[in-house]
Amino acid sequence: MVTKKSTESLIIMTELVLPNDTNVFGNLMGGRLMYWMDIAAALSAQRHCNAPVVTASVDNISFENPIKLGNAVHIEAKVTRAFTSSMEVHMKVWGEDLKKRHKYKSNEAYYTFVSLDDNNKPQAVPALETVTEEEQKLYEGALRRRQIRLILGGKMKPDDAKELKALFMS
Ligand SMILES: CC(C)(COP(=O)(O)OP(=O)(O)OC[C@H]1O[C@@H](n2cnc3c(N)ncnc32)[C@H](O)[C@@H]1OP(=O)(O)O)[C@@H](O)C(=O)NCCC(=O)NCCS
Repeated sequence: MVTKKSTESLIIMTELVLPNDTNVFGNLMGGRLMYWMDIAAALSAQRHCNAPVVTASVDNISFENPIKLGNAVHIEAKVTRAFTSSMEVHMKVWGEDLKKRHKYKSNEAYYTFVSLDDNNKPQAVPALETVTEEEQKLYEGALRRRQIRLILGGKMKPDDAKELKALFMS
């Protein structure tokens, strides 16, 4: 079986917040950030499977701190787990005030991508091999997050989500 390490899918994207990217408060618009995150995460998933992908789902995103006009935006994206044709990508986002040399966390999120073949049908992707403890924790959590997504998307019965149920029973 082909396996890939999480570090092989690492993407670091940096953008600059320009006037056209902001809301009326002079901060980066959420929609623009989600667009950049979608690109960074799609590139990460494509690095993992070396094939085209589509966004299947985007988990809840909470914006902890606004990113200001003129600040840099750093997005770090990595695959946390691959299933059959789908991959979960974890992202961390920071803002950076270069003048004040201050870097601050903006948000974290999980996106799911599906690899498609030449006929636009889902195709198998390599499995993910974890190396560090943090990667293993993300890998284990990915199964429960997948179950939540599939239940909410009407693609899984809550009763079939064994690992998710176990979390509440223990
Ligand atoms: C995502 C998509 C390819 C899934 O196709 P499908 O016919 O439902 O295929 P399947 O049921 O075989 O599922 C394929 C994979 O998608 C995953 N998937 C389907 N719906 C999902 C959801 N809501 N959340 C997370 N994963 C999902 C399945 O779990 C499966 O993963 P696996 O192979 O690793 O087990 C299809 O729904 C699609 O093309 N959606 C539009 C994608 C798009 O246009 N994205 C841009 C958004 S604007």
